[in-house]
Amino acid sequence: MMVTPAIATPHSLADTLRQRRQRLAEQIDFPVMLWSGQPSARNFPANTYPFRANSHFLYFAGLPLMQAAIHLERGRLTLLMDDTTPESALWHGPSPSREQIAEQIGADAALPFDHLAELAQDAATLMVQDAATAAEQLTLRSTIHPAQDHALAQAIIALRLTHDTAAISTMRQAAAVSVQAHKAGMAATAVGKTEAAVRAAMEAVIMGENMTCAYNSIVTTHGEVLHNEHYGHRLQSGDLLLADVGAESPLGWASDITRTWPVTGEFSATQRAVYDIVLAAHDAAIAAARPGVEYRELHLLACQELAEGLVDLGILKGQPQSLVEQDAHALFFPHGIGHLLGLDVHDMEDLGDLAGYAPDRHRSDRFGLKFLRLDRPLQAGMVVTIEPGFYQVPGILQDPARRSQYQTLVDWERLQQFQDVRGIRIEDDV
Ligand code: GLY
Ligand code: MN
Ligand code: MN
Repeated sequence: MMVTPAIATPHSLADTLRQRRQRLAEQIDFPVMLWSGQPSARNFPANTYPFRANSHFLYFAGLPLMQAAIHLERGRLTLLMDDTTPESALWHGPSPSREQIAEQIGADAALPFDHLAELAQDAATLMVQDAATAAEQLTLRSTIHPAQDHALAQAIIALRLTHDTAAISTMRQAAAVSVQAHKAGMAATAVGKTEAAVRAAMEAVIMGENMTCAYNSIVTTHGEVLHNEHYGHRLQSGDLLLADVGAESPLGWASDITRTWPVTGEFSATQRAVYDIVLAAHDAAIAAARPGVEYRELHLLACQELAEGLVDLGILKGQPQSLVEQDAHALFFPHGIGHLLGLDVHDMEDLGDLAGYAPDRHRSDRFGLKFLRLDRPLQAGMVVTIEPGFYQVPGILQDPARRSQYQTLVDWERLQQFQDVRGIRIEDDV
């Protein structure tokens, strides 16, 4: 099956893609093959999960083509894909020819897909997510050079860490749609409705713009479950609703936004107090973000703001700096301040920490640092999320070992007065 989307693209798509592959050619001189991947079957072959082209492929090929590959060598791009068969067109409609697509993306050559074997043999690659394509990658490359694949990963990371104007402009469009989705979610919120109904109102905006969700939406009154994907609760007076919903543009560029609001439109005093602390941490981290600043410092700055606020509220006891050094803030903010954003919502996490962590840096096993997904100095053109939060996670706060470790640093009785604050996160894309 060969389906290609009919997407209007700006004239400059081919130019942008040409620049990207030229920049790759400045770093490596060996051939590269990148696969788009193919849809995975849900239950029988013709009923598939929504197809998402591999992001490394998308970065250089521009279009979410299915069952296609690109061969890159010294700046030259060869597109490999088959034209739609009459049988496929019967079910999925006509689609542009290989030659038309090649022209749209500025390819230097275009070949049927069965030329893949000869060109893939000695090419470096990055593995795609779907199992069938991954198996093909392994089979077709008779000589796999792990060092070359690693060098390719490093070269692509160097490119994708910062974004060109085409990418930034598309990410802005995706973010603008997310903002509209969040406004629709707030408008749809009412006591008695379900989380699912609010999610539907939010995703309707995204779908209505012909975009998709960049990740599974989180729309929950139980924000303490960090990636909650259940939508069955009815909204009750006194609940906070946490919505982490982000649009992805038709060509794959992500946004990632979280807001937390009171179901009735009015915070309780305790909810307002904690919300303001999270907001202060969010604002401080964004204000400090500029080229050259270590992202880890933004994380620690947000932790410091949270600790100061929680000391002022009487929840934590001690000097904020010392509390952060002891990871006491992590009792309530157990994740990192954010991550890279680009074609993937956690950009390039298919490569593990290779993109998120600068060379020779590794994840800490400290309670307050182990979920930090990005540890690099910021560069102009990078896009990152800033997403501090406050959560009362039973698995952390009821854990006997944690309670004993932090016995004297938390006023556990005072904390009892904040039972109506289960989870707050405020997330923006910078
Ligand atoms: N939406 C997932 C995240 O914020 O990382
Ligand atoms: Mn995020
Ligand atoms: Mn998010």
